[in-house]
Amino acid sequence: MKHPFQSYRQVFPVLSSHIHVGSCSQGAVSRQVSAAIEEYHRSLLQYGNNGELSMARLEEARAHFAKLIGAEPDEIAVLSSASEAIAGVATALPYVPGKEGIVYADTDFPTVGHIWQAQELFRDHIRCIPSIEGEVTIEQYKEHITEKTALVIASHVNYTHGFQQDLKSIAAIAHQNQALLFVDAYQSAGVIPVDVKAMGIDILVTGARKYMLGIPGVAFLYVSKDRIDRFKPRLTGWLGQELASRFDIAHPVPAVGTRRFESGLPSFISIFAANAALKLLLEIGVTNIQAYMSELLEFSVAYGSRKGLNIRIPYRGGTLPSLLAVEVADVTAVEMRLRSQNMIVSARKDVIRVAPHFYNTAEEIRRVMDELARIC
Ligand SMILES: Cc1ncc(COP(=O)(O)O)c(C=O)c1O
Repeated sequence: MKHPFQSYRQVFPVLSSHIHVGSCSQGAVSRQVSAAIEEYHRSLLQYGNNGELSMARLEEARAHFAKLIGAEPDEIAVLSSASEAIAGVATALPYVPGKEGIVYADTDFPTVGHIWQAQELFRDHIRCIPSIEGEVTIEQYKEHITEKTALVIASHVNYTHGFQQDLKSIAAIAHQNQALLFVDAYQSAGVIPVDVKAMGIDILVTGARKYMLGIPGVAFLYVSKDRIDRFKPRLTGWLGQELASRFDIAHPVPAVGTRRFESGLPSFISIFAANAALKLLLEIGVTNIQAYMSELLEFSVAYGSRKGLNIRIPYRGGTLPSLLAVEVADVTAVEMRLRSQNMIVSARKDVIRVAPHFYNTAEEIRRVMDELARIC
């Protein structure tokens, strides 16, 4: 299989010594990201206060992410974690009696359940859809979303086994019921194209450290400009104000756009990293990445199955998304054993997740699958 991104491999130092297929947890760090972290560090050492440069990089990162998902910069808030973004939305959603239903699935990332169950006003109105063999069907969404639903939360790609959800259909059901669709794209953004407008997504969250190839400390929250007025953040602060520079303690006015969800100074070092990572992704193009990834994942499934591995794929045709889950007996021991062979995978529940990116080759996948087959 031809690797169209061979020349990019040299910008990821870890690839010279390791097989890195753990992007569902932490993507490989590029020289560009490393240089951006150094730029932050150097500017502090040289100028003492690097506020202007930091704010410039923050705005660049906001604009790059907006471009990645087909949004406008004013529709993006830059936060510190996906959990912070979800909590921000949960505490800003107006409570309307009779229209207070929250729908999510038992396969969503646990932080979703933790946050909504902590919301006293909403917690008795949660419908958590029980998955069927790891999948939540559109029929189930139809059954659980009603005219009482205020918000539907759905994962674009499942974090354990990689099932990709049909977001357009869920958006249609949500909108027929005057509910909003909130998408968790942490396991897709960076390798699967996302167009929030075309897909009917009202709110979206993702973080920088997985397939977006940054480091921990940055998450992006998109809220459509058509929906933003109904949100009055309670998790707020001076940077969420329309005019932070007025330093007016008495008259808070939330920012017009989604930056109203921001609070205080963010972790700039992570923002510098995210900005450089996003630049690289945009240069390569997520559509190109997806085309290669689906070929690579298909090869992985075919090769792994031939080797006798149990690959869990709740998959209904189309392109394979971003990760493969291989069933093994003792996931932590297997992850450690692979690490001792310089192979980075990610254990979750009862599976080893093999999560490549555009920089991986078929030969690397073959070697990981061979090792997994030897262990199993
Ligand atoms: C799909 C998904 N959503 C949310 C999270 C939580 O992200 P954070 O730690 O930034 O809150 C994760 C983390 O692994 C995830 O995989």
